[in-house]
Amino acid sequence: MKVFKQIYDWIDERSEMGDVIRKQILDKPVPRGLNLSFCFGGITFFLFLLLAASGYFMTLYYVPSPDQAHAAVNYISDEVPLGRIVRGVHYWSANLMMVTIFLHMLRVIVYGAYKKPRELNWITGVLLLFLILAFGFTGYLLPWDQKAYWATKVGTRIMGTVPFVGPYVLKIIRGGEEVGVLTLVRFYALHVMFLPLATACLLIGHFFMIRRQGVTTSL
Ligand code: HEM
Repeated sequence: MKVFKQIYDWIDERSEMGDVIRKQILDKPVPRGLNLSFCFGGITFFLFLLLAASGYFMTLYYVPSPDQAHAAVNYISDEVPLGRIVRGVHYWSANLMMVTIFLHMLRVIVYGAYKKPRELNWITGVLLLFLILAFGFTGYLLPWDQKAYWATKVGTRIMGTVPFVGPYVLKIIRGGEEVGVLTLVRFYALHVMFLPLATACLLIGHFFMIRRQGVTTSL
């Protein structure tokens, strides 16, 4: 333990960040009138971190190619040490997150926390919700089994029915006319690069506004 303190002090003396972090982030009193329903945002964030951590480990083995994707996923579950647990954590965090994000939204609605001056944070939240749904949609294809293939075929076809832009969106998202190798590569890129980056940026904005405005504690 002492060694950690020494490392911390060494970094703190040189970066001079400890004081800023303490004053700006840690030394903020918790407002009165909170209850358990105020935990759902934090739990959602915790699940997001679990998803990111387990997802990063799986990228070490996953191969986004129709020939190998399914075998790679099975390999993670059956052969990689702790692979089944890591995959399970990813799966269950994703499912639980849908529950906690809706409970979080419900709390925000019940407390009227979307009203002025928090409209922008509500909008950031709605965008976050879309991104989380997009994570689910793109991740579903990655095991490349029958269920994943047909769900993506149907899901993308529904997108194609949007008036005017639908056919273009369909082609861009599938990377051609059919669900195939380019669809898998695109979904993988979205799942591990584009969506995490966009989510991280929005979360920074979401948390920044919460720190500036505080939370709504009265009904
Ligand atoms: C990845 C998803 C999300 C995370 C990690 C997250 C996290 C948080 C956290 C930690 C808080 C402060 C504590 C709390 O109220 O629980 C908060 C507040 C807030 N969130 Fe979210 N949130 C997410 C999605 C959403 C969604 C989908 C909406 C609404 C559409 C939303 C709207 C808000 C608003 C308006 C506040 C301010 C609440 C107040 O003033 O009382 N958030 N969020």
